[in-house]
Amino acid sequence: MSRKRNALLSVVLSGTLLLSGFGSALAGNAQQNDGPPQLTGLDSIDDVVAAMTLQEKAALVVGGNKEVLEEIDNEIIGNQATRVPGAAGQTQAIPRLGIPSIVLADGPMGVRINPTRPNDDNTYYATKFPAPNVLAATWDRDLVYEVGEATSHELREYGIDLLLAPGMNIQSYLLNGRNSEYFSEDPYLTGRMATALVSGVEDHGIGTTIKHFAAYNQRADNNIDAIVSQRALREIYLKGFEMTVKDADPWAIMDSYNKINGTWATENKDLLTHILREDWGFNGFAMTDWEFGARNIAKQMEAGTNLLMPGRPQQSTAIVNAVNDGILDEAVLDRNVKDILRIIVQTPTFQGYEYSNDPDLAAGAEVARKAAADGMVLLKNEEQTLPLDSDTTVSLFGTPSIETMTGGRGSALVHAEYQIGIAEGLQNAGFTINEELYEKYETYVETLRATDEYKQTPGNFFVSTFPTLPEMDVSEEAITAAGNSDVGIIVLATEFGSYGNDRSLEDFYLSDSKQAMIDDVTAAFHAEGKPVIAILNVEGPLEVVSWRDKVDAILLSWQPGQEFGNAVADVLSGKVNPSGKLPQTFPKDYTDLPYSETYPGTGSFIYEEDIYVGYRYNTTFDVEPAYEFGFGLSYTEYEYSNIRVNRNGNFKDKIQVFATVENVGEVAGREAVQVYVSKPDGKLEKPEIELKAFDKTRELRPGKKENLRFELDAKNLASFDEELSAWVLEAGTYEVRVGASSTDIRGTATFTVAEDVVVEVVNDVLAPQIEFERLSKFAQ
Ligand code: BGC
Repeated sequence: MSRKRNALLSVVLSGTLLLSGFGSALAGNAQQNDGPPQLTGLDSIDDVVAAMTLQEKAALVVGGNKEVLEEIDNEIIGNQATRVPGAAGQTQAIPRLGIPSIVLADGPMGVRINPTRPNDDNTYYATKFPAPNVLAATWDRDLVYEVGEATSHELREYGIDLLLAPGMNIQSYLLNGRNSEYFSEDPYLTGRMATALVSGVEDHGIGTTIKHFAAYNQRADNNIDAIVSQRALREIYLKGFEMTVKDADPWAIMDSYNKINGTWATENKDLLTHILREDWGFNGFAMTDWEFGARNIAKQMEAGTNLLMPGRPQQSTAIVNAVNDGILDEAVLDRNVKDILRIIVQTPTFQGYEYSNDPDLAAGAEVARKAAADGMVLLKNEEQTLPLDSDTTVSLFGTPSIETMTGGRGSALVHAEYQIGIAEGLQNAGFTINEELYEKYETYVETLRATDEYKQTPGNFFVSTFPTLPEMDVSEEAITAAGNSDVGIIVLATEFGSYGNDRSLEDFYLSDSKQAMIDDVTAAFHAEGKPVIAILNVEGPLEVVSWRDKVDAILLSWQPGQEFGNAVADVLSGKVNPSGKLPQTFPKDYTDLPYSETYPGTGSFIYEEDIYVGYRYNTTFDVEPAYEFGFGLSYTEYEYSNIRVNRNGNFKDKIQVFATVENVGEVAGREAVQVYVSKPDGKLEKPEIELKAFDKTRELRPGKKENLRFELDAKNLASFDEELSAWVLEAGTYEVRVGASSTDIRGTATFTVAEDVVVEVVNDVLAPQIEFERLSKFAQ
């Protein structure tokens, strides 16, 4: 455990832990002499449930919120808790039995609560951490664990019991409007990152909710029916959830809004019981997403959804009626109640934790800055344009240099105490900013925002939209700036979309005014022999091929949270040597994607590309991307050697892979080393490669080496055979490819599996109800 982790732990543990809260006053005494049983801990649950009335059970499984939920009102969606203002929801208390209400808060970029409260001078800010795709780009599980710990501390000190994160759907579709709430297009990377985050939070006594379960891969239509094969479900869409459930034991899981192969996720017994509980051994409870009672309550309860969120009174009434009418077995309700109570007894609220409302936000900011800088990906660096000398004078171009997007919309929003823009960050690091140009941009942005066309739409939870600004004509400004500054930095941002939608294709392709800005700035600076750097302040991949040759360096900053400007400056100055690598492929063109003509579908959407998601598609079908999965440059160079496997390449239960990485450049740095496996085709066809392990070296000084060891076991290597409903490791020769990216392979080794091994037989469920053609590398 790192020193920082210890420090944070002591902050968390030094808070007062009073045994005077709900239930704990009666600790060890489940039955009061003259009253009903009290919830005192795990042992008391059976007695408490036996004493609950049907109405009380029906109350516990329905979130308890503001009375306004009699009417759905978009203004308050995602802001339902009364105990902690601005938290997304809470459960209902049953004081008679010592059952407290617990509080649930979003989300994937940090704690989402209201920053201020009426008649209260205190503030309630939280750290805005980098978006999960930035965390994934660090390839650093320890760092993601630290983000989890820091988040846990803030949750605890604000009186929150359960985090509604991490989001861990697969970024299989480029325009999904919620991709930045997720980690990666790869299930293994997703599973490892989610496991680290969940462990970081839960090791400190706060729960997490992995979401959105499952196959929720578009925002265009929340209610879409995702038609997907059993194999693609098991290998791609469920795999990360499976890893996280097994490795980190999360307290809760959130059902997605959509249908899967014809059945709503939240009514889906195959998913929630046969897979989640029976196949994987999930121990926590499942809740709906914030869907306000849109589904069949008896089916939800029966399927294994324990808690209906955010909860409306009529849902409790419907449950009571369903039991009285014989539609819902009360034993099912009892089971669902018990699952929730098993978690409630672990919460800080139940344990009477006296929270301070004063978390250590400076500690959070430090972790956020480190994660932001480590997750940035250097995509191009011609002639060592970067790092910049500290006495550099910088001209900033692009309206996002004023309106920096730190990330988080809708439920991923975080109210941070401050957000560092690019200019401020560069100045903090000692760079000189071309003030005249900066002020021009400020005036330009302010003026446009004051017009009807570009003002912010007065929003509610879903539509808080800034129309994207056209870029200013800088043909003259660029010439002046090239004369009086050393380097031009162009900031390119994702469009300001609305939370309720997907990204648009206009967001993937740069607008004409942005292209013109790139032309003007590069022409002017290059005429003076000065470089131009592009910073991509985006939530996901965008088209780069049409313009990338014009600039000298490209830094993908993503939407990295409140420390944006400082983290950018850390990388540009070389204080941090970039080590981030892409968790998602950058295609050359949208039309290169196998689903470009069918996505997002209407009513239903067929996952025809099947298991060939992301780089699995590019590498199998020889479609060259703009930047491949796993790609990222550094200010130094690494040499890989000694790549080999043990046991003379004879696989038995597991196999170890070894690699040595040496820093052969001139500055210290860290390298994310990736282990891909190319499996033999057998009865099952296989993608060209699959990521099966990764690690990040410690900081290596020039000339220093690190020996890395990876272990691949049978389950990790197996493929899903639908006929057998089993994970099978097929016989044949497997090639291990160790590399710096999915295509920059530095060495290979092989091992042999002597005969087919049925690694695990699972429930044969969730088959599509219709036939469809799946992409196959053997198709004509
Ligand atoms: C989102 C969830 C979120 C919930 C509570 C829903 O609209 O889909 O991800 O946790 O709101 O804010």
